[in-house]
Amino acid sequence: MKNSQITVAGKRVLLGVTGGVAAYKAAELVRLMVKAGIDVRVVMTASATRFIGPVTMQALSGQPVLTDMWDARIPDNMAHIELSRDRDLIVIVPASANFIAKLANGLADDLLSTLCVARRCPLLVAPAMNVEMWGNAATQENVKRLVSRNIGIVGPAAGEQACGETGLGRMIEVEQIFANISSHFGPKPLLGKKVLVTAGPTYEPIDTVRGLTNLSSGKMGYAVAQAAIEAGATVTLVTGSTALAAPAGVERIDVQTARQMREAVLPRARKSDIFIGVAAVADYRPAETKAHKLKRGAGNLMIELVPNPDILGEVARLKNGPFCVGFAAETENLRAYAQEKRKKKNIPLLAANLAQHAFGQETNALTLFDDKGEHVLPKAEKIVLARQLMAHVIAMLPRRSR
Ligand code: PMT
Repeated sequence: MKNSQITVAGKRVLLGVTGGVAAYKAAELVRLMVKAGIDVRVVMTASATRFIGPVTMQALSGQPVLTDMWDARIPDNMAHIELSRDRDLIVIVPASANFIAKLANGLADDLLSTLCVARRCPLLVAPAMNVEMWGNAATQENVKRLVSRNIGIVGPAAGEQACGETGLGRMIEVEQIFANISSHFGPKPLLGKKVLVTAGPTYEPIDTVRGLTNLSSGKMGYAVAQAAIEAGATVTLVTGSTALAAPAGVERIDVQTARQMREAVLPRARKSDIFIGVAAVADYRPAETKAHKLKRGAGNLMIELVPNPDILGEVARLKNGPFCVGFAAETENLRAYAQEKRKKKNIPLLAANLAQHAFGQETNALTLFDDKGEHVLPKAEKIVLARQLMAHVIAMLPRRSR
């Protein structure tokens, strides 16, 4: 589903801005929402006003900006009730570690936190903070509590931070936040469906400190999980080691080896409606994992490799199993190899990509192969392709005989 197809005009969104350098990006989000016809009210915490002026937000939203519970412009001092009642959605951009902690604990000590506690509408939160603050056990526990209460968490992303450090904690781009807001209001064709996705690389240990792996970052698989959740599905993501945060609302299961991935996938696949294998699973593993670090010797070192289980193949062979989607990364002869793979694995849909344009990249290009032929999805951000892939899967589901 393209976000441009989702009508957001006339929706009423309250944008809460908390204190953080990323607060300036909230101004661009206001602009995007207003341009799309959304009625935007902005509420800022006192710290947020240190980073960006309410006047800017007022000019962009065309509506008064509130920062204080005791604002004399509200005659009955009930701003927290009024504002939380007449909105379809509240989004917090950026959400500081402090504000997330307040939300997790139901604190109501300023206008924004109070109206969040008083709200009846859904809440979406875009965290932005230093890498250590995000990784702090308290923050992670708070985020888990928000997720368990169906509060959407969008991001954070990894990258360079305003403080000069690098890592997870950067706010995701406002275009992505806007896409999340749009999809919140979009149709949910996969409501009631269970989608199981694999993502990232596997790691096959040679000894205690070395192993065989590949360059999969998990970005494509996580985007597929995000697209599935946007379409209303209940999503489980079985992931190899990545630096990514799982999309909000997704159940995440971390694995390392192909055999662990198989153990996690098979019982869940039996209960799933759709299985999408995006992971780059090692076809072979060392026959033996040494219990100590291998020492350098004089000559060549031979490592015997044995085949790993074919997870997708096994799922496709399940009686009454899920609708299966495979991925294929090739460096050449994309079409021929992909068609061959689809046939061999006996799956209805296969998404093929060129390895050199896919592994680790922000963008990708896919060619989908199904019983009707091939469908080219030109180069785009992985989340855009994931939504297009999901739309294709949804279109194929009714003609599926299970
Ligand atoms: O993670 P990113 O950096 O975003 O990169 C995305 C990607 C390139 C990893 C992804 O788009 C992709 O192409 N994934 C499949 C990688 C691949 O090479 O697959 P394959 O040709 O080895 O396997 C074909 C299919 O069988 C895949 O769906 C795979 O998950 C599955 N498989 C493979 C081997 C195995 N033992 N078990 C499997 O289930």
